[in-house]
Amino acid sequence: MSKPHSRAWVREAVRIIEADANRSADTHLHVFPLPPEWGIDLYLKDESVHPTGSLKHRLARSLILYGLVNGHIGPDTVLVEASSGSTAVSEAYFARMLGLRFVTVVPRRTSKEKIALIEFYGGECHYVDAAPAMYPEAERLAAECNGHYLDQFTYAERATDWRGNNNIAESVFAQMRAERHPVPSWIVVGAGTGGTSATFGRYVRYKRHTTKICVVDPENSSFYGAWETGAADYATGMPSRIEGIGRPRCEPSFVPGVIDEMFQVPDAGSLAAIRLLRDRTGHWAGGSTGTNLYGAFQLISRMLADGQAGSVVTLLCDGGERYANTYYSDEWLGEQGIDLAPYRARFDEFLLTGRFDA
Ligand SMILES: Cc1ncc(COP(=O)(O)O)c(C=O)c1O
Repeated sequence: MSKPHSRAWVREAVRIIEADANRSADTHLHVFPLPPEWGIDLYLKDESVHPTGSLKHRLARSLILYGLVNGHIGPDTVLVEASSGSTAVSEAYFARMLGLRFVTVVPRRTSKEKIALIEFYGGECHYVDAAPAMYPEAERLAAECNGHYLDQFTYAERATDWRGNNNIAESVFAQMRAERHPVPSWIVVGAGTGGTSATFGRYVRYKRHTTKICVVDPENSSFYGAWETGAADYATGMPSRIEGIGRPRCEPSFVPGVIDEMFQVPDAGSLAAIRLLRDRTGHWAGGSTGTNLYGAFQLISRMLADGQAGSVVTLLCDGGERYANTYYSDEWLGEQGIDLAPYRARFDEFLLTGRFDA
């Protein structure tokens, strides 16, 4: 058990993080164009405009503040994480701001673009052969080097303030205030740690909104099975092809009790949806945004069939430029055996008729 860190250092560290938040504008809420006569509006909360390019900017800030206020982080603490994705990029950014070393444990097959992004913000990558080895290796590394394991999968749901404090949910409801349907019927998100869905689910219940939460899950992921069966230890053991969401095991920050509905979404559907988004709005997004859109279309088609008007909000989680050599490469899709055409046809049919057979 380490001695408390200098309070003066912790005070200054918190000031630096809060100052960064104060310098940052809120992320936009874009409209996805639907036929106005449907009486249904669809919105995308654009988290790709955060300084580090994804929704994980919020989580990284919360995890590091959580470590600071719990006395786990001091001037010589090495920050450690198990992530090859958006979280590591954002955590590296805040670690550098505090003058702390940041090491993230990543699978050896991690793309060079992602390694470069983590190193761009001053992070170091520590390689393991297989993904499941990331967690124990991060714990071992933290113990070995006087470090603190930020552990997004365990602490995401604890570190984020679900009552408000400018969390993503409070921001969405504030930005919906002047819309024709200000209280969304549905909020659609994916799950990586489960922290985002936990924040939305808790917030709408705390604020006594009627808004429901729908979580979308990509192929091979464990969350749908865990939610459907109630088994918190549900595990497929298989990785997801959609970066940032879907897990080989159900993660501790996944809170099924706040989720009203879940859909499983085919990867080809997710990847066809982000191309539709680019063509219809000009926004470039990563795969998890496509998974969100697919789920939103399913719900809107159902609302239409039930004659229900209202609004649906989902997330644009990160920018598409990170996936130029994968999701936006026809060659990569070919290698993966992914055919987007059938899904594109369904989306075009949906936007014409409102019918969407998932
Ligand atoms: C691009 C992207 N989308 C969605 C998510 C899911 O967010 P959460 O971890 O809050 O469930 C993540 C999480 O890593 C992500 O990186």
